[in-house]
Amino acid sequence: MNLLEKEFHEWKKEFVVYKFALDEMNTKLNILNEEFEFIHNHNPMEHIKSRLKDPNSVIKKLKRKGLDITIENAKRYVRDIAGVRVTCSFVADIYKIHAMLCQQDDIHVLKVKDYIVTPKPNGYRSFHLIIEVPVFLANQTVNVPVEIQIRTIAMDTWASLEHKIYYKFEQEIPEAFLVELKQAADTVKALDDKMAYIHQAVEKVKDRKKLSV
Ligand code: GTP
Ligand code: MG
Repeated sequence: MNLLEKEFHEWKKEFVVYKFALDEMNTKLNILNEEFEFIHNHNPMEHIKSRLKDPNSVIKKLKRKGLDITIENAKRYVRDIAGVRVTCSFVADIYKIHAMLCQQDDIHVLKVKDYIVTPKPNGYRSFHLIIEVPVFLANQTVNVPVEIQIRTIAMDTWASLEHKIYYKFEQEIPEAFLVELKQAADTVKALDDKMAYIHQAVEKVKDRKKLSV
């Protein structure tokens, strides 16, 4: 069921603060990325992508959770209306970004899910945060939740393929593909480990060179 046009407009209006929250998060992340690059000569973030959930997807989620379809419930229980995905080259960068965000006084961390330390049974790996940022409007300040997913490029490649397969098979992936996807996830983990090893080895060589000049 789609929302009637008038209601849809009402929901869209309510969701505008989530757009502002995304704008703020984009600015924050870009500043951190540029500052880091300036100091360490290395970009911890390869890509930053944000998206706003449209009202119909929010309604689907409320139904899935067995909740009444109201804007109040959407605001209270759907905490990924505003979503940001950050992709990094190395796993270590993910934790650096997390630490830098947590340090900011106006960011309130509501939830952390580390699917890197504890991957999902299907092999999914990523670092998820639900944070709250204040959005300053003309007459009030609203604290807006934003979901931030931080992952490596390799994890992102796996997740987008798995997502496509999941929808292709209408959420019932055949066992054979599940096994192959899990194997691919193990390969992704091995690749991330190898990249981290090479990166560290290169950094050591660079440090030694600095010392010897
Ligand atoms: P929803 O999935 O949004 O209802 O939230 P949740 O409470 O289960 O949170 P979780 O942190 O587990 O997942 C949030 C988001 O992470 C999802 O909406 C997806 O974008 C992504 N995600 C989680 N699990 C998977 C997975 O197994 N495969 C892929 N491709 N993405 C996943
Ligand atoms: Mg979601």
